[in-house]
This record gives sequence, structure tokens and C-alpha cells, in this order.
Amino acid sequence: MIRKCLFPAAGYGTRFLPATKAMPKEMMPILDKPLIQYGVEEALKAGMNQIGIVTGRGKRAIADHFDISYELEHQISGTAKEGKLSGIRHLIDHCTFSYTRQTEMKGLGHAILTGETLIGAETFGVILADDLCVGEPDTVMSQMVRLYEKHQACIIAIEEVPMDEVHKYGVIDGVEIEDGVYKLNGMVEKPAADEAPSNLAIIGRYILMPEIFDVLRTTAPGKNGELQITDALATMAKQGKVLGLKFRGKRFDCGSVNGFVEATNYFFSQMEEED
Ligand code: G1P
Repeated sequence: MIRKCLFPAAGYGTRFLPATKAMPKEMMPILDKPLIQYGVEEALKAGMNQIGIVTGRGKRAIADHFDISYELEHQISGTAKEGKLSGIRHLIDHCTFSYTRQTEMKGLGHAILTGETLIGAETFGVILADDLCVGEPDTVMSQMVRLYEKHQACIIAIEEVPMDEVHKYGVIDGVEIEDGVYKLNGMVEKPAADEAPSNLAIIGRYILMPEIFDVLRTTAPGKNGELQITDALATMAKQGKVLGLKFRGKRFDCGSVNGFVEATNYFFSQMEEED
């Protein structure tokens, strides 16, 4: 059973300034729900109900969101609006939320290492909330958990991207061992197109075994002088301990304006179909 899921959420969200000047980027809503709530729903559906969030300065809204607002609930109780809070209430009732602060922005690997205090010595999921995923039919994290249960390896979600976009992602080098499952030999963080080992990009879903923390501790800063999770996973891949899963479903890069608008349009059309 994987019970814990870590959400690195300390970044500044500079691509969404000025919206993210005083508001965490993870609280940007697609329709009426903040990005991080979609992520926590995905974690819970995959059986992970201990949520760990690595925050930074100015992120208090996240902790308030995953808490009961007695005044608000009292105000709307018995009105037609009561149902609007049932989704978040479900998460609060079924998950625990723990927080730790990353005091310096030293990369995703550093954020994950900062989360060790919330995770301890067990296998855990990682969700980057600005990659919003819609699985078909199961969530992406549920698909990854199934693969973990079969192989007991680190699992990363991968997706084909056009060659002129590989420089935005971690990119894998691997061999397909079964339909959509790749045994990884290595991976490179944000390579130039002519240096990329493939066009299979890492997206923001990981299942990591606890030894990743020791590997991170001995990994040197990489791309942009930051501690990269990609570099630590490349070390584990050389030992045959990492699989890539080409998941079934869609993923929206909600860290970019284009992806954010695409996700909004997608969820809006889904909502209209349901009405
Ligand atoms: C991070 C990872 C990168 C991965 C991406 C997915 O980059 O470092 O390997 O492909 O998330 O969204 P970031 O987008 O935080 O720069």
C-alpha cells in the first residue's frame, strides 16, 4: 500500500505573474476548483490519503483550503450552495495534511528532499499540481500504482511530445518492455533537441522508493544549478530501478497560459455535457 503523496508547492509561479504575486499558483482554479485540489483528489483515488505539502513563503492559502471554514459552512448551511463544498469536505474527512517549508528554492530534487521529514522510509507518490491529468478510465496515479505493485520499482509518468518541446522537460532513454512500459537506462533534464535521447517527456507524476533520498543527498546540482530529481532518478535507472509508464489519458500543462486555457475549455465542455 502506498499511503503518502508529496506535493512540491514552493515555486513562485512566475509564468502567471501578476496573478501569482500574492496567491500560490497551486490555488489557480480550473473552473471552480484549485489545481492542487484536483491533485489531492487524484492521490486519494490512488489510495494515498496522507498528503504532504512542501510549501514556501506566501502559501498559507493552501493550508487554509484543506481546512474547515466554520464561519463559511455556517453561512451556507441549508442553502443551495452547501453542495459546493462537498468535494473539499470529502478530502478533509478522508485525508491528513502535513506541511513543511522549503526555505530556499534549489530545485525540484531539493523540494522532494525537503519532504523527507513528512515521508520517512516508505514508498510515496509525487504530484506536481500544475500538470493536471485526466486518466482514462483510471487516474494516472492509479495506473502507476498498479505498475509499482507488479514491479516494485520507481515509476515515472511519460508522454510523447514534439521534438521542439523536449527542452521543457526531463527526457527518458529507455526500452519498451511491455505495452507502454519502459525500462529506463537514463534520463536528461531539459536537453536541447539534438541532445535528447528520445521524445518521451517526464510529466509531473512519480512513485519513488525511499532510497531516492540518499541518492538525492549525493547528487550534484544540475541544470540551472538546481538539485534535479531527474538526475537522482538517472542514477537509480542505471541500477535498473526505474520504469516509465506511458499513461492512458490527457495531461494539461497548467503552468503555462496555453495549457491552462486548454484545461479550462476541456473541463467546461465536460461540465456542459454533464448538465
Ligand atoms: C519538472 C521536472 C521535469 C519534468 C516537469 C514536468 O520541471 O524537472 O523533469 O519534465 O517537471 O512538468 P519544471 O516544469 O518544474 O521546470
